[in-house]
This record gives sequence, structure tokens and C-alpha cells, in this order.
Amino acid sequence: MDILGIETSCDETSVAVVRDGCEILSNAVASQISLHARYGGVVPELAAREHLTAIGPVLNQALEQAGKDLHGIDAVAVTNQPGLVPSILIGVSFARGLALALDCSLIGINHFVAHIYGAFIQKAEALTVSENFPVLALVVSGGHTALVLIRGDGRTSILGRTLDDAAGEAFDKAAKILCLGYPGGPVIDRLARDGDPESHGFPRSLMGKTGKPLRPENRFNFSFSGVKTSLLYAVRDRTLTDGELRDTVAAYQAAIVDVLVEKTIMAAEDSNAPLIVICGGVACNSSLRKKMENAVRDSGRRLIAAPPALCTDNAAMVGGLAFHYLRAGAKSAQDLKIIAKLDYDLGTIPFVSCSGK
Ligand code: KG4
Ligand code: ZN
Repeated sequence: MDILGIETSCDETSVAVVRDGCEILSNAVASQISLHARYGGVVPELAAREHLTAIGPVLNQALEQAGKDLHGIDAVAVTNQPGLVPSILIGVSFARGLALALDCSLIGINHFVAHIYGAFIQKAEALTVSENFPVLALVVSGGHTALVLIRGDGRTSILGRTLDDAAGEAFDKAAKILCLGYPGGPVIDRLARDGDPESHGFPRSLMGKTGKPLRPENRFNFSFSGVKTSLLYAVRDRTLTDGELRDTVAAYQAAIVDVLVEKTIMAAEDSNAPLIVICGGVACNSSLRKKMENAVRDSGRRLIAAPPALCTDNAAMVGGLAFHYLRAGAKSAQDLKIIAKLDYDLGTIPFVSCSGK
């Protein structure tokens, strides 16, 4: 089954063709980074206008790459939640029109769940091994940071989530403070490579000094607004040399990454999860990937890190996930809803079927 995936929930216009949930025939992405860079973040109204301009050409690019025309498409899948409403509206309207014209199924996809699926598109076999469950997924993006436990029958529960900023937001806001442009993650990742992570003692939020959490209810929750304020005070009224800038961002990045790694391992131990998955834009971070890899190995577990192109927003994860919903009999009506906020009750996800654990 060849599914056309459409993703416009934030500042990436993406269209993909995915066969049977796992074979990516194309994954075209048009980024709006240069448009929003001067504002230090995404401007929803501008993002929506840009999606409108880009979506037609991106569709053509995706079809061409896949060597298909529209009549060879079996279903249309589109992100309908969560995200920026004006942006989602463009993708959903476009998808509705296409599904109507092609007389094929239309399905709305949850972007957060799609990020998790992004880690499995090219690792589908991991979902068929019952010993891998429960799987613990760390979803780290510009909009979300959460730990999701996935059982062998697809049932999910949120073990922890951010109480304020998402990890990606902490990178983006730091870059804004330091005038490094938008998005902050990639530039901080690059500059931090030559910096000293020990140069500043930025706080490790919601962690005790011994690595023990401060309060039981916050054991697996995150908070990144404090470290951002700490950075603000550290650099206020100062002009940093290039070396000082690299040291500062290296220390700031370490404060975020250390908390993500430590809490993930703690949650995996607590829930006996043998397999850990990291996904979402921040999972591109080279330090997070390295530290998580080492910590997961030291704890005797296995790690699947989504490939970088499937970490940041893309339509392949949308088209891939849709296959499993459609196979399970789900289908959205033409008037599918657009929902801005993430509902943390993810319910049962359809791409797992290792009954038991
Ligand atoms: O998943 P994504 O493309 O969009 C959302 O769903 O939010 O994630 C975008 C976020 C941005 O905050 C960006 O700064 C961050 O991912 N990001 C990174 C890196 N690459 C992207 N953060 C840290 N290091 C990176 N290399
Ligand atoms: Zn995303």
C-alpha cells in the first residue's frame, strides 16, 4: 500500500510516499528556517503562508522522487495534531482535497506518535520481538519532551514530561539569548564540540545532587526553564570571546543532555524496559546520541536512535505510521479535526503487536 504523507504542523513542509509502512519511496522537505531566523522563532502566520506556497511543489517533488503519479496513491495521511493551527490547516485542507479528488482513504495522524514511529520505520523487526518490550521512548523536539512506555500490545503510558520548556525550546531560546539565530539546536551542537562542558556549573533540573530526584512525583519529569534563566544571568551584560561562547554552549548543552540521559536510564530501570528509543529533532544532537549510547550500553540495554533525517519533522513518519492505522481499520472522516495541544493520553498505538509484556 503506497501512502502519501503530509506534514505541515510547524515550519517544515514535507510530503512523502511510503510503501507498506516501512519503505520510504520519497521524503521531500522544504524548510522555512531562513524565513523565521530573523525572529528567533516560528511566526505562525508566516509559517502558514509559506506552507501554502510550498506544498504544491513539495508534492510534485515527492511524487517525482517516488516515480509515481497521484493515481498510484492508495491513501492520504496528514498531521492533524498537535501543532500550530494555521500551519496544520494548510496540510489538512490540502490532504482533504487530494483524498476527495482521488477517492481514497484519508487519515489524520498525531505528530508526537509519528515521531516515535520515525525511529522504527527502518527498524520494523524490533517491533516483532517480544523481548524488546516494554519499550521506553524519549521524545525530544522543539514542542515536546516526554518519556513514553510502550507495552507489547501497543498500550502506552507517559512516565514523565516537561513541566515547562521542551528540550528543543531550551536550545532555541538559548540561541536567541546568544544571538545565534534559529533553530538553536544545530548551531549549539556544532559550537559545543570545541567547548569545555565543565566550564560552567549550569543546574541539572529536577535532579538531586546524588542523581536522586528531588520529589517522587517529578522523578521522570523535566524542567528546562531554569537552566535557560541561569544562562541568561551568566551572559548578561557580557561580550563573550569565541572561546567563551563555545565553553558556555558546551556547558549549557551538557546540562540538558545529562538530565535527558539520566532520567531516561532511571525510567528504563524502573519499568524494566530493555529497549530505549530516542526521537524528535533534539535526538539529532551529537552529544545526546553519544552519551545515551554509552549510558544505555552500560545499563545492559539496547538503543534505537532515529536516523537524523527522520528525527526532525518529516512526512515519511506520517505516511509510515498511517499504514498501521489503516491496516487496523482506522479511517478519518473528511471533516477531521485540527487539535493544537498534545493529548498525553496516547491510547494504544497500532504498530506494535507483541502481545504479552
Ligand atoms: O522535531 P522537530 O523538527 O520539530 C518539532 O516537532 O518541534 O524539532 C525541532 C527542534 C528544534 O528545537 C531544534 O533546535 C532541535 O529540534 N534540534 C536540535 C538539533 N537539531 C534540531 N537540538 C539539539 N541538537 C541538534 N543537533
Ligand atoms: Zn516534530
